[in-house]
Amino acid sequence: MSMAQPLPPNPSLNALATASLAPPAAPTQPVRGLPRGPTLGWSSFQRSQSDALPCIEDLPHRAFTTSGRAAIYQALLQLQLPPGSTVLVPSYHCPSMVAPVVLAQLKVAYFGLQANGLPQLDAISPHTARLAQAMLVSHYFGLPQSLAAVRQWCDLHHIRLIEDCAHSYFGQAGDRPVGAWGDFSTASLSKFFPVSEGGLLASNTHAIAPLHLRPPTLTDQLKGWVDVLEASAQYQQLPGINTALRWVFTLKKGLSPARTAHLSQAPSAAQRMMNDCDMGRIRQAPGWSSMALKQVLPRPRIVRNRQINYLAYAHHLAGLAGSRPLFALHPLAVAQCAPYVFPLWVDDAERVYQSLRQLQLPVFRWDRVWPDMPTLERDVSPGWRQHVLQLLCHQDLSEADIAHTCQTLKQLLGQGSTA
Ligand SMILES: Cc1ncc(COP(=O)(O)O)c(C=O)c1O
Repeated sequence: MSMAQPLPPNPSLNALATASLAPPAAPTQPVRGLPRGPTLGWSSFQRSQSDALPCIEDLPHRAFTTSGRAAIYQALLQLQLPPGSTVLVPSYHCPSMVAPVVLAQLKVAYFGLQANGLPQLDAISPHTARLAQAMLVSHYFGLPQSLAAVRQWCDLHHIRLIEDCAHSYFGQAGDRPVGAWGDFSTASLSKFFPVSEGGLLASNTHAIAPLHLRPPTLTDQLKGWVDVLEASAQYQQLPGINTALRWVFTLKKGLSPARTAHLSQAPSAAQRMMNDCDMGRIRQAPGWSSMALKQVLPRPRIVRNRQINYLAYAHHLAGLAGSRPLFALHPLAVAQCAPYVFPLWVDDAERVYQSLRQLQLPVFRWDRVWPDMPTLERDVSPGWRQHVLQLLCHQDLSEADIAHTCQTLKQLLGQGSTA
């Protein structure tokens, strides 16, 4: 999808755009905290109409893992790089994008980003380009773009491309489907399906050598289902059995022994980051709950609700002083993807972000950077890390939920009614 150029008209998408530009639905009940990821509910099984989009699962070579970070790790193993090889990683990242590279005992070199989120290829020094063996490039925010220039640059420098589709399970990336630019591509199931774990390693061009993943134990299998149902009960997504489920989970919490941390020494900053990334299960196969739910849940609702939610944010937040959408996307361009978040630049981001988090509203900010990241010239990442709020678009947020988050944002920026 191009950030600048609208796609050709499509009547069913016009309907989508107009629907979401209607006045917001009034919240029916006070919202107390909203899920930050898809949550299983009766509505997850609803069938709805949506134009079919490409999906990374359509690629001919596929293997499922327990997470997106596990898929990145496995992609690096598939490349069979000599120990200590250099991997180019974006300066705008969450720690779980860097941890797999470090765990694979490879060296990280960072590249900066242009304002459209694509790599600043011309700023990568010839020396670094000569050293690098692989490059990790992400389709940020679930708004995939053409990687034609990146692919060409990688080919020119004999660098293998890992296309990170953690935010883009569905969509068209320029003139190729998502995942079809990379030598290997990776995705994260838990960002798109109501599952507690899951990742995907895929390739358009390379057969995937066996991953030799450990099968999950019966306890892991049960835990997978329990985690899914616990999240559903927390957000009351299963009317009729919510109360019973909450009762069971309260009992379960009471019975679980309290966890204590056993740290022999103060860990280094990088070690702390690695510990936080919880890489323990990357060599394990995903459980039944993730594989079954991914398979049976209808996908048009996932795609359509995300598009509607993205456009609803754009509508509510248009012209909000002290903020601006990071990208101005035409609704027809939004219809070519299933957005992960609506990225909003906020001038006074620290205060606003902390307040939104305290209210348990569905927002992220990538303010944690891997230790020892150098400052790169003309790189937009430092600004994004500080100012870009990622407002979640997932399918289990209603239009009322989006309206509530936007109303809260307006109040925090001194422009909303307090009624
Ligand atoms: C762009 C990107 N890549 C990879 C990952 C890792 O995915 P997972 O959380 O499934 O391990 C994330 C996680 O947030 C991500 O945002």
